[in-house]
Amino acid sequence: MVQTCDFLVIGSGLAGLAYALKVADHGKVVVLSKTQVGNTNTAWAQGGIAAVMSAEDSFEEHINDTLVAGAGLCRPDVVRAVVESAPERIKDLFAWGVRFDLEDRRTGAKIDLTREGGHSKRRILHVQDHTGQDIHKAVLERARNHPNIEIREDQFAADLILNRDLQSYAMDPPRCLGAYVFDRAKGEPVEYFARLTLLATGGAGKVYLYTSNWSGATGDGIAMAARAGARVANLEFMQFHPTCLYHPSARNFLITEALRGEGAQLVTADGEAFTKKHHPMGSLAPRDIVARSIDAEMKKSGAPCVYLDITHKPAAFLRERFPVIHRRCLEFGIDMTKEPIPVVPAAHYLCGGVLTDLAGRTDIAGLLAAGETACTGLHGANRLASNSLLECLAFSQNAAQFTIANKDRFPLPDPRELPRRPREAANEDEMIVISHMWEEIRRLMWNYVGIVRSNRRLLRAKTRLDNILVEIKDYYGGYGMHPDIIELRNIALVASLTVECALRRKESRGIHYTIDHPEKDGAIGQDTVLIPANA
Ligand code: FAD
Ligand code: SIN
Repeated sequence: MVQTCDFLVIGSGLAGLAYALKVADHGKVVVLSKTQVGNTNTAWAQGGIAAVMSAEDSFEEHINDTLVAGAGLCRPDVVRAVVESAPERIKDLFAWGVRFDLEDRRTGAKIDLTREGGHSKRRILHVQDHTGQDIHKAVLERARNHPNIEIREDQFAADLILNRDLQSYAMDPPRCLGAYVFDRAKGEPVEYFARLTLLATGGAGKVYLYTSNWSGATGDGIAMAARAGARVANLEFMQFHPTCLYHPSARNFLITEALRGEGAQLVTADGEAFTKKHHPMGSLAPRDIVARSIDAEMKKSGAPCVYLDITHKPAAFLRERFPVIHRRCLEFGIDMTKEPIPVVPAAHYLCGGVLTDLAGRTDIAGLLAAGETACTGLHGANRLASNSLLECLAFSQNAAQFTIANKDRFPLPDPRELPRRPREAANEDEMIVISHMWEEIRRLMWNYVGIVRSNRRLLRAKTRLDNILVEIKDYYGGYGMHPDIIELRNIALVASLTVECALRRKESRGIHYTIDHPEKDGAIGQDTVLIPANA
């Protein structure tokens, strides 16, 4: 079955929905979600969104903090453009109905700004500790009420449709014409044709065994773009969030950095505050440094976790400011008002992704990318906390402007032309093997491509991943349209591209730390760009 629209948006997180809202007055938009529309990293964001909103702060300081965290790998023009556009993007959020916390709710006086690691000023707008949920709800409601936007759930994009797949377009210059999608509800394939396609599929935390991400964060956009021949870059920079809840029954639960912004200290089981030994900013140092210092303390002591202590703050303040975390910890028998919270680092945010320019254009005409799936140059070797929701908005805006100005250069393909596509159903007998391979990839990425790396461990990961990729091709080459197989294929590819990037970087920079090259190779770094032939 073929479906058509002007603008196809793959992903219903902040990047996808903000773009949809911006282009919707200029054509029909279809937004795809691989499961239910609320299943996104966006809805899980806790801390907030960074923007210069106070007279005590300045663009120059936000730019400088972003560049310092990015460790010589940010694109300064991109950083400036994003930081300077932030107040306008915050206005968009207000217009869409987001109500950020105010310093005084009664008088409605000033926006309450909190602080996070690597920020020299308080500049994080938030809604208690459920900022992402409120942003997503507001943007989704707007999108649902727009007559030109259709949001479709259970639509799993498997690959991009390129003009080489259609007989009468095969000789044209390379262009994306939409996506091959698996309709999970109906159990059948659908082809979506569009003038322009936005990849907004989010991150890839699930490539690692322990992650703060939702279960569908399997790097699908990066894998699709790489298979289609677009360059991907800087995948070695998977950011590990220092503080995820450590409890046998708690999976993927983040303890926001804003807790440290409000004075929480990282301590050992003996109550020793250790982060100042590693950086003068202590618990509020950039994330890579805090995550590595936790890793070092855990290795030194053999302890399974460290602790985050905010018991010096009044209980009423903690209950009011961090209601979600307070409630969740209580479910696990931890009262954060009285005792420190056990925490460990976990894979959190992918700084690399599909290479784009400032307009969100990828290497393939007609294919744009925004949000966590993109590598825009904003984050460099280490993202500054709360800059990613901002990036979603900034690049959706830029991509929308490009779309509106250029849509007529991208005519809709003839819907009567059927592209070749994989149609086979999966063999039930093989499904158990998929979960074994899935587990193996995630465990080896955690063990060999984690917070502290070495050539030997990376090469070991590469050997195993090379075999796994061959096995996947041999066993499942024919079962192209089963969601579990598509995800397995994607995490295997993203894992292997990550290792390739990590092996190429012969230095330690930002998040990428290897004992074989412990120093930075010069103040300004080079992106690790994988060209399509290598991918
Ligand atoms: P997402 O919001 O993850 O949305 C991805 C969408 O793509 C989903 O709708 C999914 O269904 C869809 N999709 C994926 N693959 C396919 C496919 N194959 N076919 C169809 N659809 C597909 N950042 C901040 O700036 N501030 C914070 O406070 C903050 N806190 C965070 C807390 C947590 C726990 C996590 C996990 C992240 C946090 N981040 C934060 C990061 C930030 O939330 C994300 O980077 C950002 O929300 C990503 O938005 P996105 O639109 O790119 O992707
Ligand atoms: C957090 O709230 O600690 C997450 C912030 C972020 O990832 O930007």
